Amino acid sequence: MTAPLRLAVLISGSGSNLQAIIDAIEAGELNAEIKAVISNDKNAYGLVRATKHGLHTWVLDHRDYEDRSRFDEVLRHYLETVAPDFIVLAGFMRILGAGFVEAFTDRILNIHPSLLPAYKGLNTHQRVLDDGQSEHGVSIHLVTAELDDGPIIAQARYAVEPGETAADLAARGHRLEHRLYPRVLRWLADRDLCIEGGRIFFEAAPLEKPIEFHP
Ligand code: GRF
Repeated sequence: MTAPLRLAVLISGSGSNLQAIIDAIEAGELNAEIKAVISNDKNAYGLVRATKHGLHTWVLDHRDYEDRSRFDEVLRHYLETVAPDFIVLAGFMRILGAGFVEAFTDRILNIHPSLLPAYKGLNTHQRVLDDGQSEHGVSIHLVTAELDDGPIIAQARYAVEPGETAADLAARGHRLEHRLYPRVLRWLADRDLCIEGGRIFFEAAPLEKPIEFHP
């Protein structure tokens, strides 16, 4: 068996994706260890979840740093001591600068509530409804210096049903996210998925299009 994947999970809020990853590890479905949970908000509920499971937590409040690059630098130094294989952004609401992203090339993942490249940024569910889209979804992508723009690794899609609100879409998206993030991490832990030089390889072949996940 290969060594457990070392993860650092970055959060800003509820941490339900963090919980899904913890649960997958504890159920023996994911060969990984969460070495640190980092939040930029001391009130993030995800910190409570992490503590309940005995995980090491750290708060780095962006409001303590006038300068965005200084925040990135402190975060980077800390993460260098943690030495994760992957930095898992799970509802982390800060944009990381190019220098930070470069320091961890090929090692930062993000989950985003849309079928990227459509609907980058915030309020994705309402924007999907406003545009009358019939389909919506969630994506996991490699983080690059551009917001929500890195190569897409995997997606799960769902139909927008008549009468659904943004809250309904968010709830359905969340349920998919909780399946998708552990699955992608499992592929990485099992070395089915590899990332090199910004390119993604799945089962030893270059990934031509995002992996479609059907739960
Ligand atoms: C998720 O919807 C994710 O797609 C977005 O932020 C949300 C985080 O939710 N990036 P949680 O904190 O994991 O519950």
